[in-house]
Amino acid sequence: MANVTIIGAQWGDEGKGKVVDWLASRADIVVRFQGGHNAGHTLVVGNQTYKLSLLPSGLVRGKLGIIGNGVVIDPSALLLEIERMRDQGLHITPETLRIADNAPLILPVHAAIDRAREAARGERRIGTTGRGIGPAYEDKVARRAIRVCDLAEPETLDWRLDELLLHHNTLLAGLGAETFEKQTLRNDLIALAPQILPFAEPVWERLAEARKSGARILFEGAQAVMLDVDHGTYPYVTSSNTVAGQAAAGAGLGPDAVGRVLGIAKAYCTRVGSGPFPTELSDATGRLLGERGHEFGTVTGRARRCGWFDAALVRQAVKVGGIQGLALTKLDVLDQMQELKIGIGYRIDGAEYRHLPPGAAAQAKAEPIYETIEGWSGSTRGARSYAELPAQAIKYIRRIEELVECPVTLLSTSPERDDTILMTDPFAD
Ligand code: GDP
Ligand code: IMO
Ligand code: MG
Repeated sequence: MANVTIIGAQWGDEGKGKVVDWLASRADIVVRFQGGHNAGHTLVVGNQTYKLSLLPSGLVRGKLGIIGNGVVIDPSALLLEIERMRDQGLHITPETLRIADNAPLILPVHAAIDRAREAARGERRIGTTGRGIGPAYEDKVARRAIRVCDLAEPETLDWRLDELLLHHNTLLAGLGAETFEKQTLRNDLIALAPQILPFAEPVWERLAEARKSGARILFEGAQAVMLDVDHGTYPYVTSSNTVAGQAAAGAGLGPDAVGRVLGIAKAYCTRVGSGPFPTELSDATGRLLGERGHEFGTVTGRARRCGWFDAALVRQAVKVGGIQGLALTKLDVLDQMQELKIGIGYRIDGAEYRHLPPGAAAQAKAEPIYETIEGWSGSTRGARSYAELPAQAIKYIRRIEELVECPVTLLSTSPERDDTILMTDPFAD
């Protein structure tokens, strides 16, 4: 039985949440495998809108949700989100949600460092979500993290906090920010422990069992390939691997568990935060895309930068991300635009490139090479079958397929769950 892994193919906010929710009807388990509450996944189901950050989107369909070891978990944010979702009528209990006992925690000290460092960077800031994601991943790799399982061992918490604060308080003091008291952090963690621990377990064991019994697993990526810490527009990236390969390591399964890889891309392109964006439009067309697409960040409310579809970038994401099929979302936002452009490469210092080279200076200088394509006067909004699409919209999709060297297997034509067109079922054997 095929599993499916969903990843973003641009700089995030491509509509992963909507696609995961839609495909979750065919899955048994939905697993988050990287990132943290920097993600914001929006699901629109009838008159309800769900905004999920840490919780797997499959919970909305009543599927088992698993937060894997590759995720960084802010326990307070998790409990608040569970409360918020319960208020919206979702049933979230230790029966429906499991979290990896070896996942690292995000503590208030991480968010403080994140913000203090961004402030110190000034003009060169990354534009992080300020939620402590980067510092928490740094602590994991530095072997300084406090993990979910440590909540069950007050004596471990004690010396782990000593080590953590030795590092972070020195840094915070150097940045002129307020330092943290060990006792306060410890008391807060001990108070949270009884609320978090009932959800914790070695999820790798449950997942291994699920695989053996033929259950279908849907892996829900956060962020996107161009924000990947290795393959993205470094240093303007997040601090985790967002490519499909991470689904295995971030859940505690072998690489064969990843299954079919579906990349999600908008029919245009957006980015939140700083960093290179060759096809960005700072003109009226960019503003029009932003207004029509309601391009405001789910997590921070920041206006998203908008631009033309960059096929060179998505082609690169297809290759390094392991993407086998592309879901193209927000096609409706392009309705009635006379002319569309597609980025097919870059010009940097007079030389032409088919991909974005890794250097920060080169990336900042990259000028897009465009191909122009006629728009369509009809509407794709709410279309639920290929036959409803204007012929020119189909041409646009076909051209994208050629340029990114990957078939478009799913289309989304509005925020609403069922305004979706499936061409190839990724779960099919
Ligand atoms: P994610 O982070 O990849 O899950 O994406 P977000 O939820 O942050 O942002 C995508 C936004 O676009 C959300 O507000 C969705 O409701 C909305 N959306 C998703 N698909 C479509 C679509 O096909 N058309 C339109 N107009 N909006 C969409
Ligand atoms: P979803 O899952 C869009 C961006 C931030 C910033 C950079 C680093 O909703 O697609 P971080 O807080 O992770 O250290 O910030 O990454 N970023 C996102 N942009 N969508 C996201 O998630 C993002 N998560 C992080 O804006 O530029
Ligand atoms: Mg988002």
